[in-house]
Amino acid sequence: MNNFIFENATKTYFGKGCVKEYLSEELSKYGNTIMLAYGGGSIKKNGVYDEVVKILQSAGKNVIEFSGIMSNPTYAKVQQGAKLAREKQVDMILAVGGGSVMDCCKAISLAAVYKGDIWEDFWERAGIINFKPLPLGVIVTVAGTGSEMNGGAVITNEDKKIKTGRDYTACNARFAFMDATYTFSVPKKQMVSGGFDILSHIMETYFSTCDDENVSDDISEALMRGVIRDLRASIQNPEDYSARSNLMWESTMAENRIIKLGKKCDFQCHQMEHQLGAYTNCNHGEGLAVLHPVYYRHIYQYGLKKFVRFATRVWGISPEGKTEQEIALAGVEALADFIKEIGLPSTLHELGINDKSILKEIADSCNISIGSYKKMTHQEIFTIFEECFE
Ligand code: NZQ
Ligand code: ZN
Repeated sequence: MNNFIFENATKTYFGKGCVKEYLSEELSKYGNTIMLAYGGGSIKKNGVYDEVVKILQSAGKNVIEFSGIMSNPTYAKVQQGAKLAREKQVDMILAVGGGSVMDCCKAISLAAVYKGDIWEDFWERAGIINFKPLPLGVIVTVAGTGSEMNGGAVITNEDKKIKTGRDYTACNARFAFMDATYTFSVPKKQMVSGGFDILSHIMETYFSTCDDENVSDDISEALMRGVIRDLRASIQNPEDYSARSNLMWESTMAENRIIKLGKKCDFQCHQMEHQLGAYTNCNHGEGLAVLHPVYYRHIYQYGLKKFVRFATRVWGISPEGKTEQEIALAGVEALADFIKEIGLPSTLHELGINDKSILKEIADSCNISIGSYKKMTHQEIFTIFEECFE
């Protein structure tokens, strides 16, 4: 194992009924004015809003609502939330939703108390947070990003056409509630997209040095097998609590920094997807599904032994009678088949991107990962986008 320092400050409540049982007690540690933040209204349809508001009311909290946080949250929405938080002198933010709501609220928790421009000082470039953000708590309603137990927040600056994420330990939520029954109402399209995002986070971490046998990769292999199993079971029966609760924790485990310990991490596909998203507002997990197999066909030879391990240990590919190249490629093809099996798009065309002429500009705007087995150039990213087209 390589050296590492580990910290994770989020207190986690996991399981059926946890909100009803512990939210009130947890909220008693914070001030009276709570900003209740959520997305486009799914929580009003599935009963989560009513459950949370009832708890807030019985605790005597003054509730300020901030709704309409969109998928791929924008910097403009962050500023709107920060303005409201300042005007109403909010004591803490309670984010109820998926990655978009959680990320937007992390950025609001900074912007509400920071005098300067948080985009310039903390997203456009990495900054140092030497002040206390507004306290943030989250209630997760969809498994995918793992934002609940890290300091990561991905924000889109529409004017600059940049979608980018930063992970600050100061932005970890103080607490996270995860009740998988809240995810039963997630539409299939979003469930598989979130599920693939989990797999992507694990692969982006796994396919990087160190490549010696190590605890982080061992955990990653178990998690990848779990995500594949639990996604299949959740598609069969969306109310399979065992599958949905496993998926929820796999999502958290993929992004709570544990499997990244001692790893360089790649995240080149995420860099590419984020810029695709900045230009087209495409769905995050779907964009990743299109990119991963094509990207891996470009890099597998540079991390051959790891791709062989992936094929045999994650997909159960038999090595018999095959060269290492063939085993590794069979693993990548198993991944591509799985993407089709669960109904995710395999081409940019299927993702709804029909204008090929924007691909060069998008490719040129992508960050280059320093953790990839093969360092990309903007030209090769452009080639990957073209191969993804159809
Ligand atoms: O807005 P509402 O009405 O709530 O509907 C949402 C939204 O339409 C719906 N949904 C959520 N929970 C539901 C539900 N529908 C029915 N029942 C429920 N229980 O799902 C849709 C998608 O929600 P969203 O939060 O946008 O999805 P996700 O969790 O995939 O988050 C995506 C965002 O997170 C970023 C992505 O780039 C994207 O901006 N990421 C954040 C990361 C992080 N903070 O660590 C890492 C990721 O790699 C990712 O980049
Ligand atoms: Zn992701």
